[in-house]
Amino acid sequence: MKIVIIGAGALGSLFGGLLARSGHSVSLYNPSNLEHIQTIRKSGLVIETNEGEQRVSLSATSQASELERSDLVAIFVKAHHTAKAIQGTRSLLQRAPLVMSLQNGFGVETEILGIVPRENFLRGTTSQGATLLAPGRVRWAGKGVTHLGRWQGQPTPAVQSIVDALNQSSLETHAAGNVIELVWIKLIVNSAINALTALFDVPNGVLLKDPGLREILRAITRESVAVARAYGFAFSESEMIARVEQVCQQTAENISSMLQDVRRKRPTEIEFINGAIALEGKRLGVSTPLNQLLLRLVQK
Ligand code: PAF
Repeated sequence: MKIVIIGAGALGSLFGGLLARSGHSVSLYNPSNLEHIQTIRKSGLVIETNEGEQRVSLSATSQASELERSDLVAIFVKAHHTAKAIQGTRSLLQRAPLVMSLQNGFGVETEILGIVPRENFLRGTTSQGATLLAPGRVRWAGKGVTHLGRWQGQPTPAVQSIVDALNQSSLETHAAGNVIELVWIKLIVNSAINALTALFDVPNGVLLKDPGLREILRAITRESVAVARAYGFAFSESEMIARVEQVCQQTAENISSMLQDVRRKRPTEIEFINGAIALEGKRLGVSTPLNQLLLRLVQK
């Protein structure tokens, strides 16, 4: 299969590298991290795990004009870079039979669907963990699970072919018929964990250990669940609190993606996480003082 990965950060590089390793023809595209692209062009991508490391050859470019029509275009840029990334690759996206997004947050779909026909758009969530250690070197930090489906409707054979390709590349993936719901579950988890860890500069596990932070964690979850329920999901408050706390437990040592962005003084995904919940709350008549506060504090 011919695959283009837009956004060769940690996760994009990991997915691209593993798909290339299993025999697919993959091109990584990143117009900003030139050192990473040049290193991959020269000596391949090194994927590091606890078991060792492996060097994979694949093509990489910083020029959108070098990208060829592909069977799948996978968007891995941070949510707030989506608009720019899809404008820069508009004709590639329009010609691709399938376009996939596993990005965090809610709202990128509207931007992508402004260019990509709905029937070609695959959305999903992933809990794979990756870190870019150096140009041309990615660490597969935690083996997670990916869920993938059509934005609306049941998985088709085309969806299944992508799911199979990911599984054959050691990326555990399941076809899903309810991706909007899965995106919202991840959104709620991220709304509760990411901004708090970013503001207090703590790993995820501290949100459980500190009684004050745990109270706020639960209060944000309740508020986000109220918006999700108004949106139409039958989520239970207590089940969602248990899920958020379980993620904190399972990722106790993790530095959340938002805290990593804050530490590197880079823009965060706050507008697509707490900002998205605040926006939906406003539209649906649910008040969201905590999500709005987190949005303002992280944006500062
Ligand atoms: O964004 C992140 O960092 C992750 O989605 C999560 C689950 C909060 C773990 O760090």
